[in-house]
Amino acid sequence: MANVYVDEEKVEVEDGSSIQEACESLGIPFSCKEGVCGSCLVNVSEGAENLGELNDEEIAFGLDGKDIRLACQCKITGGDVKVESAY
Ligand code: FES
Repeated sequence: MANVYVDEEKVEVEDGSSIQEACESLGIPFSCKEGVCGSCLVNVSEGAENLGELNDEEIAFGLDGKDIRLACQCKITGGDVKVESAY
């Protein structure tokens, strides 16, 4: 199991799963859920190495590293990831 943290709250998710539902339940805002609008942009404060590689939507959005991600697009490989809304 992996853990997604927003502030001090956490949600457990399966290794390799999307972090979208966990982030949504912890208050990160979402809109399109297709990697276009950017409303789910998060700063990854801990555990960026536990997120999968940037996908095509994130690259098209202009992201180029693992510290800022689209929560609707990235997957957690395992371990802990701590995020906060980028807004
Ligand atoms: S919800 Fe629109 S980019 Fe993630």
